[in-house]
Amino acid sequence: MSVRSRLTAIGLLTLPLLLGATAPLAHPATVAAPALDNGLAKTPQMGFNNWNATHCRAEFNESMVKGIADLFVNKGLKAAGYQYVNLDDCWALPQRDSAGNLVPDPVRFPNGIKAVADYVHSKGLKFGLYSSAGSKTCDTNGFPGGLGHEKADAKLWASWGVDYLKYDNCNNEGVDAKQRYTAMHDALAATGRPILYSLCEWGENKPWTWAKDVGNSWRTTGDISDNWGSMLSIFKQNVGLAPYAGPGHWNDPDMLEVGNGGMTDTEYRSHFSLWSIMAAPLLIGSDIRKATPATMEILTNKEVIAVDQDRLGAQGQEISNASGLHVISKPLSGGDRAVALFNETAAPATISTTAAKVGLPQAGGYTVRDLWTHTTRETAGTIGAVVPPHGTVLLRVGNDRNWPQYPPAVRTGIEFPVAYPGAPVLAEPGKAAKLSTVAVNDGAANATNARVQLTAPQGWTVQPQSATSTPKLAPGKELRTQWALTPPAGTKPGTYSLAVRTSYQPQSSTSDYQLAVAVVAPQPGGTSGLGDDQWISADNGWGPVERNTSNGEQGAGDGHPMKIGGVSYAKGLGVHAPSTVEYYLGGRCTSVRSTVGLDDEANGNGSVSFEVWADGRKVADSGVLRAGSGGKALTADLTGASLLRLVVTDGGDGNTYDHADWAGAELTCS
Ligand code: GLA
Repeated sequence: MSVRSRLTAIGLLTLPLLLGATAPLAHPATVAAPALDNGLAKTPQMGFNNWNATHCRAEFNESMVKGIADLFVNKGLKAAGYQYVNLDDCWALPQRDSAGNLVPDPVRFPNGIKAVADYVHSKGLKFGLYSSAGSKTCDTNGFPGGLGHEKADAKLWASWGVDYLKYDNCNNEGVDAKQRYTAMHDALAATGRPILYSLCEWGENKPWTWAKDVGNSWRTTGDISDNWGSMLSIFKQNVGLAPYAGPGHWNDPDMLEVGNGGMTDTEYRSHFSLWSIMAAPLLIGSDIRKATPATMEILTNKEVIAVDQDRLGAQGQEISNASGLHVISKPLSGGDRAVALFNETAAPATISTTAAKVGLPQAGGYTVRDLWTHTTRETAGTIGAVVPPHGTVLLRVGNDRNWPQYPPAVRTGIEFPVAYPGAPVLAEPGKAAKLSTVAVNDGAANATNARVQLTAPQGWTVQPQSATSTPKLAPGKELRTQWALTPPAGTKPGTYSLAVRTSYQPQSSTSDYQLAVAVVAPQPGGTSGLGDDQWISADNGWGPVERNTSNGEQGAGDGHPMKIGGVSYAKGLGVHAPSTVEYYLGGRCTSVRSTVGLDDEANGNGSVSFEVWADGRKVADSGVLRAGSGGKALTADLTGASLLRLVVTDGGDGNTYDHADWAGAELTCS
């Protein structure tokens, strides 16, 4: 495959973004937006869209869409509030018919789109479609877009029974965004059919400042991808836009990735919690015909959905963010507050706030309901939890005068020594790790007969080194227990779970906490290729990090031979900014060396910078490298370090095209 055609293949996500970003505005905004009067999306829209699961692949067809509609009913999704079944790009033929009408792809949709809409409607659901406010849609096959065809297309969709339009931004020919999106607003309004209007211009023209009267929601960012780094970066771009959201007009941080397999269930719970507290549209983006029970449990958690769907319609505001420990608070109708305690770091952390800080009135106590464990406790005012790495504790805090009837909130956690603040939790086979469990009473009443239990995987040694129980845990007091924990020699590298439970009275209460521990093995001695070595974690801006090839963006193993400045490299790591790959060194390695640069397949675009971190200290930095900079040699001293972290940033200009290579990267250990 040529470099150009490869670039086109990846361009379905990146190239349009670049075009949209750089296209000159040929026509200034002249159209004043009329007030949006469709009466829809009084709470954020909920439903399904196939894009994140299928992209343009053949499996996107009538039988898939019907299958999803069936499951909405049979698996409780409709009951949980999901309503719209939406088709994304690739539903049409590349050419309009001789009358200028869009034509459904007869292979994917042999009975047309109206038949699918009718089927969806027959299930008591609503039906959505996709187009672009440009001459063509975003897929590289270039399906016809709506620019200049607004009235005819809207009329056709209304005749098919379309209830929802997602309107994209590709191939916009440089026409002013407000003008393009308003033209479709007018055309939809003229049909007389209420059609939810979802703008998808990726936040490029700050739609939150002008689209309130044009559409029911607007994308605030580029496309999400099924990985932690992408989800986190989108959360950060969207969370500050809270003042612009409200009933009928929502910030849209893109569709859900829950269930697509690129994140852990803890990360997916964070994704779902954060989208809900941000009052985001909840569009399921995985093929729920193949969903695991854990995925279904996340997607149908009615208490979390109720936070998203609260009729007050306020987007949660971030009230603190200290070193990646976020507190987000969302006022709810009736006076409760939803509070998300979100830990973006790789280490467990206590995150706490107070009832006063989240805006609740002064009181002797409050109810705190955990929306993932479904338990209610009382607190004297502290709202806190030990939050696992990448986890979110989502609470509903109430100023309820019945609070004394609930058991006191006991916050349980594990303090595990890590190499530096925010470092991952690691254990080596055969080596004892010293850790502490902590149970703190945040309630206004005593917890009595408190007892703590630590459970490790079978075969591991767990020995308490201090008291594991106390007859009385008074308000504000803690039970702290030291433990020695040893994974047996020969334990395979991987992730293992530790569970701690505090049991106490009244009401035979329990408080649980789980911690994932990475069992690590030393790197091979001598010099080894980082493309072959075992990593602890690998986060990437698009698709998975590739071993010994460039980054292919989508699935694992879809990269190409690495090439920087015309020089090929057989070994190394192919990443897409922003990226972090972390290795365990255990103090046994001395140096790392690599040639770094943008892969030639970025074809003259993009900019990145490469950083090497040893135990939380930056020990090498390439500075910003652009296409044409060629390969740069980077070496760093790692003597004594426990962890090596390879970081690639987007060079300060977004991550479009940022295929970055750690070419020939080698580690030297004793
Ligand atoms: C753009 C949008 C995506 C998706 C694709 C379809 O990238 O932002 O959400 O609709 O186009 O081609």
